[in-house]
Formats: sequence, C-alpha cells, structure tokens
Amino acid sequence: MAGIFDKQAETYLQARPTYPCEWYSMLAARTSHHSLAWDVGTGNGQAALGVAEHYERVVATDISEAQLSFAIPHPRVCYVHTPQSMSEDEMVALMGGENCVDLITVATAVHWFDHPKFYKLAKRLLRNPGGIIAVWGYNDVVVNPEFDTVSKRIWEASIQFSHSNSRQIIDGYRNLPFPFESVGLGHEGKPMQLEIPKELLFEGYLKLLKSSSPINLAKEQGVDLLSEEVIKELESSWGGPNLVRTVTYKAFMLVGTITE
Ligand SMILES: C[S@@+](CC[C@H](N)C(=O)[O-])C[C@H]1O[C@@H](n2cnc3c(N)ncnc32)[C@H](O)[C@@H]1O
Repeated sequence: MAGIFDKQAETYLQARPTYPCEWYSMLAARTSHHSLAWDVGTGNGQAALGVAEHYERVVATDISEAQLSFAIPHPRVCYVHTPQSMSEDEMVALMGGENCVDLITVATAVHWFDHPKFYKLAKRLLRNPGGIIAVWGYNDVVVNPEFDTVSKRIWEASIQFSHSNSRQIIDGYRNLPFPFESVGLGHEGKPMQLEIPKELLFEGYLKLLKSSSPINLAKEQGVDLLSEEVIKELESSWGGPNLVRTVTYKAFMLVGTITE
C-alpha cells in the first residue's frame, strides 16, 4: 500500500489541498482535553498542521517513508514512520499508552486501512470519555459546467483502474464501517457533506489529476489517461494557463466517540 504513495510523494505535496481551518476548530470544540492528537496516514502533514493549531502535541504517522520525507515541519508535530509490521502494542507504546489521545484524524486515508485492526487500536488509544475520531475525504472537484463535462470523462475512465479500496472514497464513505457513537458531525452510513473552496491555476488542477491513484494505476497498465491531447482540451476549457479559478472540492466527514 505504501508503494502507491511512494511513487507520487513529491507531486502529492504540490497537488493536494489542505483543509479549512474551521474544521479543526469544530473538532477541537468537541474534545474535553487538548494535549495529544494523532493524525494517521498523514502524507505530507496536510491535516497535521491544522490540528497542531489546537493541540499541544501531534503525532503524525504514515506507512510511506517517501510521503513523510516531504512532510512540512512544525514545532508541535512529530512525524513518525509506522510500517505495516508494527504491532498494536508497539503503536500504543508509541502514542504513550492507552486512553491518552484527545483527537484522532484520518484525512483522505482511512479507505486504505485494515478497518477492524485500526478501529480496535483507535478505541484503545482514544481518551474515554472525551476523545473523538474524525475521518474525512473528498472525491470530486467542481469547477464550472463546461470544464466539469470534460474532466468527468477522465475521472469516469479512471474508475475501472481504481484499487478496490478507492471504491469507498468514490462512494463518499457512505459504505465505510465506522463503529463509533455519533457526535452530530456525520456517522456510519450518513457522512456530513462539506466543501473545500480553493483558488487554482490549471497547473494546480493538473497536479491533482497526476497525483490520483487510479490515473497512476492506469499508467502502470499502459493506459495514459492524460495524453497531451487530453491535457490541451482540459486547459482550453479551463480558460488557459494563467486563469485563476475558484474550485470546490466535494468532501465528507464522519466523527465519533466511544461510550463503553
Ligand atoms: C491519500 S493520502 C492522504 C494524505 C494526507 N492525510 C492528506 O490529507 O492529503 C493517504 C496516505 O495514507 C497512507 N497510508 C495508507 N495506508 C496506511 C496505513 N495502514 N497506515 C498509515 N498510513 C497509511 C499513505 O501512505 C498516504 O500517505
């Protein structure tokens, strides 16, 4: 799994959005303490940096060393490589023991995890009562009707090359197991719908496409979904390379706590 992200680690940093700061205030308002947060599948720290505005310490982990090598440093964020071989007890020891994590965040990553294993660990680590876990992702970027017609063709063509885990993100986490008590911010079967507005040049949009795992998996199988011709068509419907457009990432979130 780490391999998928190793190959695109540098593009990933340039291509992927950070998340609105209001999301972190909203989550921080729901935890009883603000000592320790764990950002899992941190990538380059896209969410860890926002979480660090509200918590004394953030441990940000990933199974891909390549992704972590492009992580953005922050005095309150400690990035740690956690290979798949690490045991549950080793993970608990790394975080400082059971019942000590105020907030667990998983940004655009939980669909890659072994859910029963991860949720069991999360339940051991979460502060009880008072801790929460938030998982979120995005699966679409809306620009304008003309551009969206062209881009939809590419995204749809890429679906058949998706890793089976990506189906959950394509479904907007509607089928994601999430065995936690609702705190009113999206729950199992009914994620909360959110939007991430961004200003982008065409180059930024193209980087997002180039960092998409189905498009990379297609390329590995000899199918280039981003031929020069396709890129030209996209760029022209964008309005040229110098036009800054406001785009909207369609996002979804589930947040829960433990009661037992
Ligand atoms: C799509 S990226 C998301 C990165 C970042 N959180 C963001 O919001 O952009 C998914 C990340 O999850 C990591 N990952 C996949 N499986 C993992 C696992 N079992 N444990 C920890 N990290 C994992 C990948 O290496 C990758 O960096």
